[in-house]
Amino acid sequence: EIIHLEDYRPTDFVLERVDLTFELDPTETKVEARLIFHRREGVSADAPLVLDGDELTMTGLLLDQEEIAAANYDAAEHTLTIRHLPAAAPFEITITTQINPEANTTLMGLYRTSNVYCTQCEAEGFRRITYFPDRPDVLAVYTVNIIADKASTPLLLSNGNYLGGAGMGDGRHFAAWFDPHPKPSYLFALVAGDLGVVEDTFTTLSGREVALKIYVEHGKEPRATYAMDALKRSMSWDEERFGREYDLDIFMIVAVSDFNMGAMENKGLNVFNDKYVLADPETATDADYANIEAIIAHEYFHNWTGNRITCRDWFQLCLKEGLTVYRDHEFSADQRSRTVKRIAEVRHLKAEQFPEDAGPLAHPVRPTKFREINNFYTTTVYEKGSEVTRMIATVLGADLFKKGMDLYFERHDGQAVTIEDFVACFAEVSKRDLTQFSLWYHQAGTPLVSASTAYDAARQTLTLSLEQMVPPTPGQSSKEPMHIPLRIGLLLEDGTEAQVTSVSGAEMTGDVLHLVERKQTVVFAGITSRPVLSLNRGFSAPINLHFEQTPADRAHIARYESDLFARWQALNDLALPNLVAAAASAKAGKPVHCDASLIDALLAAAADGDLEPAFRAQALSLPSEADIAREIGGNNDPDAIHAGRQQIMSAIAKAGQTIFEKLTDEMVVSGPFSPDAASAGRRALRNTALSYLVYAENQPARAVDAFNAANNMTDLSQALTILAHRFPESAEAAQALATFKARFADNALVIDKWFTIQATIPGAAALNRVTALMADPLFNGSNPNRVRALVGTFAFSNPTGFNRADGEGYRFLARQILDIDTRNPQLAARILTSMRSWRSLEDVRAGHARNALRDITAGKKLSADVSDIVERMLKG
Ligand code: ARG
Ligand code: ZN
Repeated sequence: EIIHLEDYRPTDFVLERVDLTFELDPTETKVEARLIFHRREGVSADAPLVLDGDELTMTGLLLDQEEIAAANYDAAEHTLTIRHLPAAAPFEITITTQINPEANTTLMGLYRTSNVYCTQCEAEGFRRITYFPDRPDVLAVYTVNIIADKASTPLLLSNGNYLGGAGMGDGRHFAAWFDPHPKPSYLFALVAGDLGVVEDTFTTLSGREVALKIYVEHGKEPRATYAMDALKRSMSWDEERFGREYDLDIFMIVAVSDFNMGAMENKGLNVFNDKYVLADPETATDADYANIEAIIAHEYFHNWTGNRITCRDWFQLCLKEGLTVYRDHEFSADQRSRTVKRIAEVRHLKAEQFPEDAGPLAHPVRPTKFREINNFYTTTVYEKGSEVTRMIATVLGADLFKKGMDLYFERHDGQAVTIEDFVACFAEVSKRDLTQFSLWYHQAGTPLVSASTAYDAARQTLTLSLEQMVPPTPGQSSKEPMHIPLRIGLLLEDGTEAQVTSVSGAEMTGDVLHLVERKQTVVFAGITSRPVLSLNRGFSAPINLHFEQTPADRAHIARYESDLFARWQALNDLALPNLVAAAASAKAGKPVHCDASLIDALLAAAADGDLEPAFRAQALSLPSEADIAREIGGNNDPDAIHAGRQQIMSAIAKAGQTIFEKLTDEMVVSGPFSPDAASAGRRALRNTALSYLVYAENQPARAVDAFNAANNMTDLSQALTILAHRFPESAEAAQALATFKARFADNALVIDKWFTIQATIPGAAALNRVTALMADPLFNGSNPNRVRALVGTFAFSNPTGFNRADGEGYRFLARQILDIDTRNPQLAARILTSMRSWRSLEDVRAGHARNALRDITAGKKLSADVSDIVERMLKG
């Protein structure tokens, strides 16, 4: 069944209050829901109340405390319909359901993980707890009573403020919670169990003291201190930057080890995948620390962008997600290096969102139809959604953007709204018509901008010709031209910027050029010598750019741009043609050539002590194999791409050997471990240099030394990755893998890394290893992190291993998907999206991939999640 945006209408009944009582039991939990409704004005008196439900056993149904006659209701598989309800007066419906948390392997609704009761309700999990109008525009105030065995379940948590609790004399106890803020059901949460806690307090700008608590498994408390620090920094930042204060007496985070996603912003009670809470130097990498900081912030920021102001319907998901990602990006940029953060964002966007936008799963940031909403928690909604928010800030400028945000918070607090409501705030404060801009929400596909320049020395003008094209995507064959904000710079020979006297043919605001027509010719006047154009500074617009620039011009940008992001981009643009040509040479069995201009530019950046180490590490990291595949565009051979890239790496490694050796000495971080961005940057540059040196030397000794010397997880896992990926069959790699496994056998998050490192070993042999690892006693097919670490990373991040020419990788994945789907449809569907680019493979592989997808469709009893993905993938 497909749901359409245009069919939206408000509910017939208004929900006033919710009172929930849980009697927790691992297999027989009893839920009593008392719901007070009244008929919405204008709704006909015979309209029935229709509630959502999923896998529920109903044991009681009352209207104002009287049993409802069987003739007056229908309990179907997914709905409960109640007829003959009061025409105008409020009434109370009491529903008793029984559910089995232990048997709930979908991890939606109420489930058990390591003896802890836990909920996940977004998007439609609350209907697995009780019958309810389970949609985001139904906002109500909740009271929650939790009853459980006191000895095994001492901790009883829900949203809002704690009202009180006591023992009950029969070995059980109860706790009551009240959340004064009206909320939709997807923000409901309950956690109960026996957990340890890290506590702190935060005083808000207006003086409210907030108790902060992070709950983790007993013994893991020391690993939650970084998360606590990140939380406090997030709270201050939101006050300073967006004027947003916290609004309850308590803010809680619970870390659980079985979780389908990263984390969840339930009001006052965020639930996290423990991967994004737990960290210490011995077990967490710098990337882990950065992720924890970003996700703690993200969930906290949802308190305003998501919870106080929520979505009218699930089509508006980007209203909260795109905006909140933008906010967490800005937070991390302020906490760390803005440039390096932006590079990481753009790498991620290009690696994940661009392929989605270019393949059969492409959809608008604000979709208009869906079959399974869980499949729309995508990088398009999240990351492209964030880029669209960023573009609003770019188009309006910082001050008007802030005014627009303030208006949004003020006007819509307490409401469930739409993207149109959001955009209207910015249109109003800026007096700009944002109709064309809004196409970013409605048109799928990555716009392609083609650019060319001509300098006229006699007239002292530079003419820039721009043309935009948005490619067709499923369900959208023709597109309108978009409003594309391109930040630009004109660099003169000495590296300074040209002083332009006038611009015609485009609106300019500061360094932002507004491309709004399909074709636009822009003339810059007063330019005394031929400039080099730096286009799309800071990745101001999420586009593909075709701009034929000479390597010399690109090297000039890489050297002189004041926008450091643009320097990185120029290095990338220098590298890509080399990597594409290398793939072709490798395919043809010819020697691979690497331009000196690329090597010179990379090594100059590497050795430039004025640049921060983290930036230099990014500069040295070549475009990924997936980036190269995307640049080639079609008929891709992952083996050739890999082989070509390896040879380019070797060429750079040999040319830069002395520089890399010097860096491995200079970038040693001494003293006690600190996860701060500067130290992390030094480690990143040192490890990048190390990996080049290993290319140059082509033997494992240096990586073995690094492995033995490592005193933190960043260095240790890097060394292990180099050994396993470069010398997979060596005794050294086997030894290091065994040492690592033995040392961390009882730390699940570190063992996930052990699986991931092996799942991503390049080459056709990886599949045998992955298959063998599935039989390892440490593999656990019902833990989402473990499944993602092995099966997920194999499919997503091992291009040569997964795309084996004989198709065995795809057949393996098809079998895994069918198996995972029987337990956890959401996880299965997510991992299956790893095949989203199958149509851009060369014919033989594409044929195997198509057959594997067809094998999945032939599976019995496919979930809606998986069948939605597989069908779109075969159709699009
Ligand atoms: N709202 C959560 C977050 O972005 C993620 C929830 C994902 N839900 C889902 N059904 N996939 O922070
Ligand atoms: Zn979110």
